[in-house]
Formats: sequence, C-alpha cells, structure tokens
Amino acid sequence: MNKKRVAVLISGRGSNMTALIEAAKAEDYPAEIVLVVSNRADAPGLARAHAAGVATVVVDHTIFGDEREAFERALDEELRTNRIDLVCLAGFMRLLTAWFVGRWRGRMLNIHPSLLPQFKGLHTHRRALEAGVKRHGATVHFVVPEMDAGPIVAQEAVAVRKDDTEQTLAARVLEVEHQIYPQALRAVAEGLTKA
Ligand code: GRF
Repeated sequence: MNKKRVAVLISGRGSNMTALIEAAKAEDYPAEIVLVVSNRADAPGLARAHAAGVATVVVDHTIFGDEREAFERALDEELRTNRIDLVCLAGFMRLLTAWFVGRWRGRMLNIHPSLLPQFKGLHTHRRALEAGVKRHGATVHFVVPEMDAGPIVAQEAVAVRKDDTEQTLAARVLEVEHQIYPQALRAVAEGLTKA
C-alpha cells in the first residue's frame, strides 16, 4: 500500500497526535505519521512522539518575531524536506497565513473541540456550558484561511449533562476527538473525502 506521509503539528500535550500515531500502526491504515512538528520546544507531546519512535522537529516561532511568513517558510521547508503529503493540526496554537494555507489547501486538517460552526476559537467547553446547549462535540475539518472554518470531514456530538463542568465536558469531548481524528485522516488519505 502506498501510504500517505503525514506530519502532525502540535503546541502542547499531543493527545490527538498520539491517537493518530496509534491508529496509523494498523497495517491497513492508509497513512503513516512520519513527523511531528512543534512550535514550542517545551511541548509535552514531543516526548510522547519520541517515545513512539516518530521523528520530531521544533520550529520555534518566537525567533521569527512578527515575521509570521518567515516562520511558516521554515515550517514549509521541514514539511517538504520530509516529503509530507498531508498535515494534521492537533492543538497547534498558531494562526496560519493565507500563504501557508494556500500551499497546503486540501491537504491540511484541523481538529476543533466544538460542533462547528458553533463556538469557533478558544474556551469552547466553557462557552458551550454558558450557552446552555444540550449537544456539544468535536469537528475535523479542512483548513482554510478563516479560523475554525472549512469543509467538515468528521463531526461527533456528546450530550451535555446537567452536572457537567468545563473539565468533565472537555474530557468526554476529548474521547470523541481521539476517535474521529483517525477516522477523518483515513477518509482523506484514502481519497474518499476531498476539500
Ligand atoms: C484539543 O482539544 C483540540 O481539539 C484542540 O486543542 C486540543 C489539543 O489537545 N485544537 P491535544 O494536544 O491533542 O491533547
């Protein structure tokens, strides 16, 4: 099987990254995670990737100052050097310019902890509780220049319970994230879902 070469971009703990790495171990999985890139040297996910035997690289955005495109050119260079086919953003906390998104358009996914288009941006679980919604969840979508927008590949809901706190709700949504991200990547790598 001609597996797609995937890079996962992280900034933090990397639990979605780990779910993708685990799923990709299956022989019939159409993608392999060949690279993990973090914009932060202290991201705990780096150690997890290393332990899983996946190559890691840090592209520290702070050394580029306000030069967002210079940071992205360095990032792009890593991806191209590693012959990456698909990019998965997994808790990657940098907004990407139209230039970078354009280069990877149709080949870059993101996971967001809400039922998009509801609750774009940060603190989604708190905002869902404040809004009193009965259903919350997670979405995997293709990345477009607008933040937390773009064609939806996978989405799953969780019921909000009366006694939910931000933490308990986040934990249940995270379980769903770990299921749908590998499913979405499979569909995209198999060419079943296109942007
Ligand atoms: C996840 O909730 C993801 O949906 C959001 O950031 C969080 C990252 O968590 N974009 P992790 O680093 O994958 O554990």
